[in-house]
Amino acid sequence: MKILIATEKPFAAAAVNGMKEIAQKAGHEVVLLEKYDSPEKLIKAVADADALIVRSDKVTADVIDAAKNLKIVVRAGAGYDNINLEACTAKNIVAMNTPGQNSNAVAELAISMMIYMSRNQFTPGTGSEIKGKKLGIQAYGNVGRLVAQKAKCLGMEVMAFDPYVPAEKMKEEGVTPAESVEQMYSECNFISLHIPATAETKRSIGYGLITLMPSGGCLLNTARKEIINEAELEKALTDRPDLKYVTDIAADCQTELNEKFGKRVFATPKKMGAETAEANVNAGLAAASQIVDFFATGNTRFQVNK
Ligand code: 3PG
Repeated sequence: MKILIATEKPFAAAAVNGMKEIAQKAGHEVVLLEKYDSPEKLIKAVADADALIVRSDKVTADVIDAAKNLKIVVRAGAGYDNINLEACTAKNIVAMNTPGQNSNAVAELAISMMIYMSRNQFTPGTGSEIKGKKLGIQAYGNVGRLVAQKAKCLGMEVMAFDPYVPAEKMKEEGVTPAESVEQMYSECNFISLHIPATAETKRSIGYGLITLMPSGGCLLNTARKEIINEAELEKALTDRPDLKYVTDIAADCQTELNEKFGKRVFATPKKMGAETAEANVNAGLAAASQIVDFFATGNTRFQVNK
């Protein structure tokens, strides 16, 4: 089978080598398309591929339509909002992710963002410590749990809101379950977002929630830019000059935010939550192994379009 690894933002070399080794050992051919600069290049490359591995690359209906032999697409990572699942399902193409494989890298970034913002982006002036502060985790999944563990080690008090996780489980892990998302925003100095971008969550973080935060509150986004209502974020930062926003996924209006709010906002130049050698290797190798297993045994454990 022909496996196409299409990554606009390439994996570390160690990950690519490992993925090739896993696939070739099982008798598959691997083709690499890295740093491509137009969707047409992906559309052309996928034409004769049996399997596709991507990161945040957009697997649109056009890509699926062009992929005449495609049987499986694996998003090497957690969020699969970049894959048109309906188009996959319509053509009986299995879509998978690799949950948990890059979570630690994202969690470490969230922790570092809190310290960076608390210390005035490492510029002169008196900052503050995160020890003793209260952190609210919105969605207690793979990344949220790791952020909670690390924050507790740093002396933070941690609360979480997740309607899909039993309160008992949070309590067992030393995390206070919030009764409502509003309660969490009202009580926490930091809110770290870990919700996926879905029809339900898109633009769900807006003025009402953000302005509930106590004085000096800081909102962290290592999830998706689509979950933020950007116009309302801008209004919240205008009306509340004490609030801060730090993100790993620049807002569409990021230039405007930077100009208007200076050091109260920060966006990484390119999404870098999963940009560690370890996360690349974990997610990349998992993706390759899942494809090999799917072709060998039909295993669809991580299928997301069931
Ligand atoms: C994910 O959903 O796994 C993360 O957002 C990482 O995305 P990336 O592979 O594009 O860095």
